[in-house]
Amino acid sequence: MIRSILISPLKRYFLTKRLFTEAKELAQSKGKGLMVIGDPCSGNYFQFMSSLFPNCEHGDVTVDLGGCDDCKRMDINDMSAWNEFEDGAFVVMETGVLGFSKDPEKVLGQIRRVSGGDFLSAGGNRGLLWEMYLYKTYSKELIYSMDPFDSRVDVYYSGIRLGRKGSFRLKF
Ligand SMILES: C[S@@+](CC[C@H](N)C(=O)[O-])C[C@H]1O[C@@H](n2cnc3c(N)ncnc32)[C@H](O)[C@@H]1O
Repeated sequence: MIRSILISPLKRYFLTKRLFTEAKELAQSKGKGLMVIGDPCSGNYFQFMSSLFPNCEHGDVTVDLGGCDDCKRMDINDMSAWNEFEDGAFVVMETGVLGFSKDPEKVLGQIRRVSGGDFLSAGGNRGLLWEMYLYKTYSKELIYSMDPFDSRVDVYYSGIRLGRKGSFRLKF
């Protein structure tokens, strides 16, 4: 229980903060744009926490279906919506949205394309209570909890299907 509501969210919070800073620096050093997937202003289980203590900032583009006015309100599952982003144009920093993927392989394919291989993510929340029950109270659309990923060191992108319904592993 403590893992689901305290340890995992705190771990994800601090990892997101660190990876966001690194993604921003990487984008600057490579002369690429920064795409953030997940509105920094919202989305935490306790909304006020996101407003008071955001885990990152907006990117040059911020993708979030239910995002704020500074976001591009786009469904990550809509493959045609990705077409407006050029190949290799961004360093992509993802924060807790890919769990809403209907087909992780397809969504990852678009991230691979637009990032040209520069992709960082702190992954989703974990813990027995979260994986079995609490995720349903957050959103009925949430399907997966992804593992953290850093394309500078990782080759495989992986995660679990919530409800303890299995796992997946994809080559990035
Ligand atoms: C956990 S929040 C992520 C941002 C938050 N600041 C964080 O790091 O936890 C999940 C976000 O996913 C967005 N979302 C849900 N389904 C989506 C979809 N199909 N396409 C894009 N964004 C989606 C929601 O609007 C929500 O803001």
